[in-house]
Amino acid sequence: MSDAQELLELARSLRARIEDGDIRLAPASPVSLSPKPPTPPSEPVSLSPKGERGGVRESVVASTTLESLKEQVSACKKCPLGGQRLNAVFGVGSAQAEVMFVGEGPGYQEDRQGEPFVGRAGQLLDDILRAIGLSRETVYIANVVKCHPMKDPGDPDARGNDRPPTPKEMEACMPYLQEQIRLIAPRVIVTLGNVATKALLREETGISRLRGQWRELAVPGMAAPLRLLPTYHPAALLRDPGLKRDVWTDMKNLRTELTKT
Ligand code: SF4
Ligand code: URA
Repeated sequence: MSDAQELLELARSLRARIEDGDIRLAPASPVSLSPKPPTPPSEPVSLSPKGERGGVRESVVASTTLESLKEQVSACKKCPLGGQRLNAVFGVGSAQAEVMFVGEGPGYQEDRQGEPFVGRAGQLLDDILRAIGLSRETVYIANVVKCHPMKDPGDPDARGNDRPPTPKEMEACMPYLQEQIRLIAPRVIVTLGNVATKALLREETGISRLRGQWRELAVPGMAAPLRLLPTYHPAALLRDPGLKRDVWTDMKNLRTELTKT
């Protein structure tokens, strides 16, 4: 059975449970993107380094458009990944998107095509989006880092050479994601997997506990905090299809949030 069929079947089998109120909205607790330890959950925290408002934006030229930000990213050498990439992978989707999905960083295929989530995990993400009536064109998809992290940069054609970004790489690249979020101004951010969730929420709690829990994220330059929903990374679903059930719950939850006026 294909991943799409499996997901749709899961959707059908879970519909009854979900409609019975199986989905819980956890109390929103605002969080920050700053590298500091998490502040108390009752207070939105800023995305800026050291929690200084505007601090992050000092390190990128404040952009008026996604296009100009994309140009900055294509020329960026702020971390060593800039010297190793084939293509920077800025993001894809609608500049008016209500929901933004954030992964960890480009892999082999993404580096070659310059587009996020185009490998196997990306196909599964497309299926997941389709299952809740969304698409790559109507949402926005980006990553925490824009260049391909490799275990062995000396062997860029090797497969299985992907690795998660380091904290330093994520910190260097975060201003771009922050500007992307500010320019797109989505209602909701969905973080895909542990790396993106930790990068944005600055929490050490693992994804299996955080997934499905709504949080709030304060982004400098934005009037109101955004709602943020962590879920599993599609690559995790490929390794462990048993996680699809939870992702389906999260996606129903997301759809409910998006249909609110
Ligand atoms: Fe610049 Fe980000 Fe690429 Fe590093 S990963 S070079 S910070 S765009
Ligand atoms: N995994 C990610 O986190 N991002 C991509 O763009 C592709 C795979």
